[in-house]
Amino acid sequence: MKIKILMVCLGNICRSPLAEGILKSKLDSNIYLVKSCGTSNYHIGNRPDRRSIAVGKKYGIDISSQRAAQFTVNDFKTYDFIYAMDNSNYQDIITLTNKNQDKNKVNLILEELHPNNNLDVPDPYYGGEQGFENIFELLNKACDNIVLKLEKLS
Ligand code: 4NP
Repeated sequence: MKIKILMVCLGNICRSPLAEGILKSKLDSNIYLVKSCGTSNYHIGNRPDRRSIAVGKKYGIDISSQRAAQFTVNDFKTYDFIYAMDNSNYQDIITLTNKNQDKNKVNLILEELHPNNNLDVPDPYYGGEQGFENIFELLNKACDNIVLKLEKLS
């Protein structure tokens, strides 16, 4: 059985598709499954935002074939690690379960970079291109630490 990791944001078109693409690029696909989704239904079936596709492409990560999906309670069963991009996503996910076993799977992704700071990956949707460069850098560093953590577990 593969170790399964889910990246979650609001729309699943800006932050979590990049998080998925970046982490996937650092892990062996025979051992790990990485996916992403959004807490909202706003963009189900859509491609990632063109600015996320562009910044990914700039750093050699192709996310253009991803399509947006919405988080469901079934994802608590499927995934081993669930990373929320911000505190609002975290709350929206946690609200969907009463089980500690489910809640314990959910973490803010930037806790892997700056523990105990409860930092958000800023939502770049309404900003400019620089916001996408910024989130790429944050997610890339956080994913490096996730890889180290996963490698310690295996
Ligand atoms: P994401 O960004 O959660 O990183 O995919 C957003 C995308 C779309 C919207 C909000 C955030 N929206 O309101 O449509």
